Amino acid sequence: MKRNLDAIVAALTLEEKASLCSGLDFWNTKPLERLGIPSWMMTDGPHGLRKQSTDSARVGLHDSLPATCFPSGAGLAATWNADLLGEVGAAIGEEARAEGVGVVLGPAVNIKRSPLCGRNFEYFSEDPFLAGELAKGYIKGLQSRGVGASIKHFAANNQEKSRMIIDVVADERSLREIYLPAFEAAVRDAKPWTVMCAYNRINGTYCSENPWLLAQVLRKEWGFGGVVVTDWGACNDRVAGLAAGEDFEMPGNGGITDADIVAAVRNGSLPEDCLDAALRRILELTFRVADAPPAPRFDAAVHHALARKAARESMVLLKNEARLLPLDRGSGSGSALGGRTGSPAPAPAGAPTARAGHPPAGRGRIAFIGAFARTPRYQGGGSSHIVPARMDDALAEARRIAGDIDYAPGYRLEADEPDPALLAEARETAARSDTAVLFVGLTERLESEGFDRSDMKLPRSHLALIEEVLKVQKNVVVVLSNGAPVEMPWIDRVPAVIESYLGGQAWGGAVADILFGLSSPSGRLAETFPRRLEDNPSFLNFPGDARKVEYREGIFVGYRYYDAASVEPLFPFGHGLSYAEFEYSNLRLDRAEMRDTDSLTVRVDVRNVGQVESQEVVQLYVEDEEASVQRPPRELKGFCKIDLRPGETKTVNFTLAARAFAFWSPEHGDWVVETGNFIVSVGASSRDLRLRASVRIESTAPDIRVWDASASLGEVEKTPAGAAFIRSIKPRFAATFGSYEPGSAEAEMMEEMMRGFPLRNLVRMGHQVTECEIDELIDTLNGK
Ligand code: BGC
Repeated sequence: MKRNLDAIVAALTLEEKASLCSGLDFWNTKPLERLGIPSWMMTDGPHGLRKQSTDSARVGLHDSLPATCFPSGAGLAATWNADLLGEVGAAIGEEARAEGVGVVLGPAVNIKRSPLCGRNFEYFSEDPFLAGELAKGYIKGLQSRGVGASIKHFAANNQEKSRMIIDVVADERSLREIYLPAFEAAVRDAKPWTVMCAYNRINGTYCSENPWLLAQVLRKEWGFGGVVVTDWGACNDRVAGLAAGEDFEMPGNGGITDADIVAAVRNGSLPEDCLDAALRRILELTFRVADAPPAPRFDAAVHHALARKAARESMVLLKNEARLLPLDRGSGSGSALGGRTGSPAPAPAGAPTARAGHPPAGRGRIAFIGAFARTPRYQGGGSSHIVPARMDDALAEARRIAGDIDYAPGYRLEADEPDPALLAEARETAARSDTAVLFVGLTERLESEGFDRSDMKLPRSHLALIEEVLKVQKNVVVVLSNGAPVEMPWIDRVPAVIESYLGGQAWGGAVADILFGLSSPSGRLAETFPRRLEDNPSFLNFPGDARKVEYREGIFVGYRYYDAASVEPLFPFGHGLSYAEFEYSNLRLDRAEMRDTDSLTVRVDVRNVGQVESQEVVQLYVEDEEASVQRPPRELKGFCKIDLRPGETKTVNFTLAARAFAFWSPEHGDWVVETGNFIVSVGASSRDLRLRASVRIESTAPDIRVWDASASLGEVEKTPAGAAFIRSIKPRFAATFGSYEPGSAEAEMMEEMMRGFPLRNLVRMGHQVTECEIDELIDTLNGK
């Protein structure tokens, strides 16, 4: 319905205006019946709906209505499948609409600066491009169902320690290149209805009242027209917040800050126009929610099947020596070694059908060891905690696929301390089996909103279990359930490892599908797994002091650092194996030279040379070969997940516009592509690049340098006028510096040293050049 927002705003009293800018309680907005303004509800996300079933005046983390629990953000990101995130977003949207929810608080796209951040399980990636593409998929899917997204936490909320007050000290280039682009891509392309501003400060100012962040970057540069809502309790100075672009405060606070707003308008310190502008945005959102089409019907079984698909695609096969996986479906414990003669149990609904021609593998009698096999660790703690609609366990699902499987719990859930009796039982079970699948990971109390981890270690009880089983069994598959990287001191002794992340309610079925080859693994790491925490670039500056954290590693976050410093990771960004194999060929660029205003089309052929159908994630990285500023060796600028049958070839297309080649230039206050050669590489991970090609780009960025006498001869020499000038004055240097045989080592050393001389020294040292000549050159360089 079309409404005249200006008329509504004009009809409001100042008190009403102020009051409509904050919540009624924890989840609802305030109604105003007099003017037909309805109340509506927002709830968490992001990987399912957390609609509190009890009193909205308090925050009840575990008493929400049952909803489909999808894999949490880290797992969803490992799918590298933006379309799939769209399907998940749409399903969450359907459940939200059915519950009358207007906005779901997600996706959460903060960058994984350190493996220790307590909310990494909720976040997508260490890479801003990947995080941005996935966020776009999720938001478009969610909003297609008439439910708004709230992309969060804007911005640089990369740790839990002191999150509500910490001052993030970061240079603009790092913010622009690493911490903001996921938000930027989503805002520009997917148009989320709301943006949630973070608790922390950036360079001294709280995000909720940061004019640079909200007014300049978000609204002016990216054109965000929606509502900025505070994270719950992120409002500091309400009046400063409104002036900077913070529209809506959550949760409600009983009118305390409404009074601040009224007083500020009355005493002239806050222009009423500014309040009106926020109100218009809030009203627009309110009516958008009110006018959303009726709730579509959804089928919980279909959503569960989607959760299983998402969980399957999120699983990353880290290692698979001697093709231990997939396990033979006919090799349950009732069988003789080498497989049963009977046919396997029928696959459950929603599972993919078995692939013909699958190579027999597996190792006879199988044991599942580890309590997670029965009681999954499927999500993290805090505000994203979903009450799952139903719950699969891996053991039951695997038995449906492969018959009898032995089981031993191995450890007590939530206990760090190993239990000798459970270890002994696990060892005996493993010794009796031909293959042991160990279910280990991080316990619930190690991963939650509100605090960071203190190390990357598995609980002692899980480590002891791995060691105990390895004493008697070498065919070991480790299935990890955790939301962020862990150290793996046992990695060289374990032939197969699956990183299954926190896989949501259908994790059990999904992991069974992968273990028994009903589906080929297609998850890829959206983050680097370092060997040791100390290898991580933020190590010395995470989590900082009590009130301040300095992002001293700058743009060298994640693989950007490991590649630049040649630090060997445990598993690199983008890594993930498959039961198939892929061949890359025929990389072609549609041009060898271009201007930065053109775009480049890249094509590559990918063929499945394995024996099973599988998905491959084709990754594209760009390297600037001749940068004048520090740049990472390569950066992800494209990816595409494709499905290939055995023998099938597909051509993958990428389009790269200027931004794919650009860096943020604080001097230009803009993205700049420098003239020079760029390498485009394509492959299966950041460290498995199969093909490369180069393109030369001509920059159209304005030359904004103002030359003066502090310019070095080396810099001047790079310009045509400067090079000519240096050639002309060179003979005069001999009087001061002596003459050297051209081409000799001494001559080369001398020239290199001279390149560091500022122009002014040519006049002062030896008086070989006049001030007038220098001034003339500077004028020429400045185009005068
Ligand atoms: C979290 C947000 C969440 C909000 C509402 C905050 O503590 O940081 O991510 O959406 O609470 O539960």
